[in-house]
Amino acid sequence: MSRIVYVNGVFVPEEEAKVSVFDRGFLFADGVYEVTSVVDGRLVDNAAHLARLKRSLAELKMASPLPMAEIEAVQRETVARNGLIEGALYLQVSRGAADRDFALPRQARPSLVMFTQSRALIDNPAAARGIAVVTLPDIRWRRRDIKTVQLLAASLAKQAALDAGADDAWLVEDGFVTEGTSNNAHIVVDGTIVTRHLSDDILHGITRKAVLRLAGEGGVRFAERAFTVTEAIGADEAFITSATAFVLPVVRIDGRPVGGGRPGPVTSRLRALYVEEARRA
Ligand SMILES: Cc1ncc(COP(=O)(O)O)c(C=O)c1O
Repeated sequence: MSRIVYVNGVFVPEEEAKVSVFDRGFLFADGVYEVTSVVDGRLVDNAAHLARLKRSLAELKMASPLPMAEIEAVQRETVARNGLIEGALYLQVSRGAADRDFALPRQARPSLVMFTQSRALIDNPAAARGIAVVTLPDIRWRRRDIKTVQLLAASLAKQAALDAGADDAWLVEDGFVTEGTSNNAHIVVDGTIVTRHLSDDILHGITRKAVLRLAGEGGVRFAERAFTVTEAIGADEAFITSATAFVLPVVRIDGRPVGGGRPGPVTSRLRALYVEEARRA
């Protein structure tokens, strides 16, 4: 079944969804995006995703194609028209079409595109099995706090991890883990979650924030500071968070087992708490 895609004011079958070759998203990766998970047909934590979208647009001095309330209405309609029960809603804003020039166009109208991806998020076999990561140098740009569509470095790192027989890469800068290719990285040491502090070095994950809140409410301590690869390998547990992964255990780093190579209790509890909250969204 062909999906229904939203492109600049119209819903069309995916084969007919087109943007200009002059769109700056295509020519300069001049665009931002959000991925909101959908559980039981409802968007999860979407207000936080839209707040981050607004911030990303402001950081790039890009106009919003629609007021946020209207963007949200289109998100809901895209989910409804596709009958999506579980999966993800992808939303992208690019600066729009203009003759190719490094200077920002004065007149371009921003493009807005949305589509859905149907996928089992709750029944994810990786939650019981855990994932393996390899560490790689973080060669991305310096404003990783802005959720831009400039994802080539992350995409190459993901492929290098798969080629090495792992599931994902943890990126490393100055000896410290920044984050995963498309997720935030965390470890658990003596019952305390250790997660990198927020700065321009990482994306301020919406799931990270929700999970730390749930941890706090559940009496689990957390410390926001950078950690090394050695510390991660020696940790009791390691895990990742993202809108579509929720919380997933990391059981192997660079071929070395973490916490006996099995998902740990803190990670499993946080995943259960997150899923419970997502179902109540
Ligand atoms: C680089 C990076 N870090 C972290 C995340 C997790 O963010 P969120 O929890 O908002 O999905 C993502 C999600 O795509 C990401 O691309």
